[in-house]
This record gives sequence, structure tokens and C-alpha cells, in this order.
Amino acid sequence: MTSAVTITRHGGTGGRTAVAARARQVVKAYGSGETRVVALDHVDVDIARGQFTAIMGPSGSGKSTLMHCLAGLDTVTSGQIYLDDTEITGLKDKKLTQLRRDRIGFIFQAFNLLPTLNALENITLPMDIAGRKPDKAWLGRVIDTVGLSDRLKHRPTQLSGGQQQRVAVARALAARPEIIFGDEPTGNLDSRAGAEVLGFLRQSVDELGQTIVIVTHDPVAASYADRVLYLADGRIVDEMYKPTAEAVLDRMKDFDARGRTS
Ligand SMILES: Nc1ncnc2c1ncn2[C@@H]1O[C@H](COP(=O)(O)OP(=O)(O)O)[C@@H](O)[C@H]1O
Ligand SMILES: [Mg+2]
Repeated sequence: MTSAVTITRHGGTGGRTAVAARARQVVKAYGSGETRVVALDHVDVDIARGQFTAIMGPSGSGKSTLMHCLAGLDTVTSGQIYLDDTEITGLKDKKLTQLRRDRIGFIFQAFNLLPTLNALENITLPMDIAGRKPDKAWLGRVIDTVGLSDRLKHRPTQLSGGQQQRVAVARALAARPEIIFGDEPTGNLDSRAGAEVLGFLRQSVDELGQTIVIVTHDPVAASYADRVLYLADGRIVDEMYKPTAEAVLDRMKDFDARGRTS
């Protein structure tokens, strides 16, 4: 039974801690002196394993910076980042590159697909580069779940935006990373294609036990998450569990109103 396999591999914690990633007192500052910008101001956060987390907040509030620091794509000024039990802050470049390759999946707004490769080749590319054989059963399941079975031989230009982004999502999932990060992964898609991709991300959390963190400014996108974190001026100022689009929108209006009166 595939579900039993899933439970051993992804349900529960499979020997991993219940927290997939942690930030402790993380400060990220850019520049110095008069031009110094504090993008993250002593951020503490736990990202629960097997949950879908959305990071929201006004433009410039530090969403991308937080995600990049959590994903080991950017260094911190002070504080610690952990992936499971591994402290990634302070890892040397080579180790960090290896860790990102082996343990983290990325979905970027620009899909970053190679135009000369077909959908399947794009999906397995990171594993090919890492010299790892894809688990056929798992790959099949991912491809079925994304609904790309009949598009595997197509090149990116022969696919719609939504399909291309689903290839990018499948690529992130295929290697079974401990955590997937997406910075506005549906930002370039129309609402129907966006819903397709978000529905699939949701499904990969529910059915495959995936841990996902996305940055979004869209209340509808955030409503697919289990938890929404709100950033303002580099701090986590609020959070919401089981968000609905209406509740998220209300909360955003609230912040706007407070911003205007203070
Ligand atoms: N490479 C950089 N150099 C200088 N300042 C930066 C850099 N990246 C981000 N910032 C600043 O850090 C703050 C947070 O940026 P960012 O994380 O991109 O916000 P968000 O993703 O919420 O829009 C902003 O004030 C931004 O101008
Ligand atoms: Mg950003």
C-alpha cells in the first residue's frame, strides 16, 4: 500500500524532530552606518514538520529575507538557523551547498526550467546533478499528483504557465526534500493556474507529508496554508492558524488601518 509507505517515510517524524526549521534571534542587516537597513530584527520562529506555512506582510517587511535565511540562501548578521537538528548558520560554503542540494527544495516565481529539456528531464534534473537515482514509485506518485502524466515529453514552451509551475513544483518534490520553500510561487500565474498549483501544494502536505513554506501577498493563496505568519518591519507581529481568505483579508485591513493612524 502506498499510503503505508508514505506513513513510514513522511507521516510522523520518521526519526526527525517535529520542527523542520527554526530561527533563533535572527538579525539580518544590510549596509552600514546611515544606510544600514535591519531586514530581520531578532526573529524567533519554528516551522512545524508536515505543515504548510505562509509568510505575509507589507512589501519590504522582510519576507524574502526570512525565507532566504531559513533556506540557507543568505547569511545572517547574528542568531541561528536550524534545519531539523543541523545548525546551518556557520556552515562552510561547500557544506551549505550540499545541504541545500540534498535537503531543501525551491520553487521560484520564475520557474527556472531548462528550455531544452522536457518536463520529466526538468523534474529529475536536480537528482541527476546530485548523482542520485529517483525512486520510481515516488516519482510516479508525484507526477500523478501534479497531473502531468500526459505532458512528460513536452518542453516548457509547449506547456501553459500553470503547467510549467507544476513542473517546478514536481521538481522540488521529486527529491523528497525535508522542506520546500517558495517565494510567491504563484505570483506569475493567473488565478486558475495559481489555484491548481496551490491545490497541489496542499495535497502534497496532506498526502505526502511534505513541509512547505511560501511567501505570498495573496489572502487566497494564504488560505491554503495551515498557518500564516505576519511580518512587519522585520519582526513577526502576528500569526493565524487555519486561515480563511476572509480572515486574512480582515487582518491585513487591520494592519493597514493601524499603520495609517500610528
Ligand atoms: N540586498 C539587499 N541590500 C540592501 N537592502 C536590502 C537587500 N535585500 C533586501 N533589502 C532590504 O531589506 C528589507 C526587507 O526586504 P525583503 O526581505 O525583500 O522584503 P519583502 O520580501 O517583505 O518585500 C527592505 O527594506 C529591503 O529594501
Ligand atoms: Mg519579497
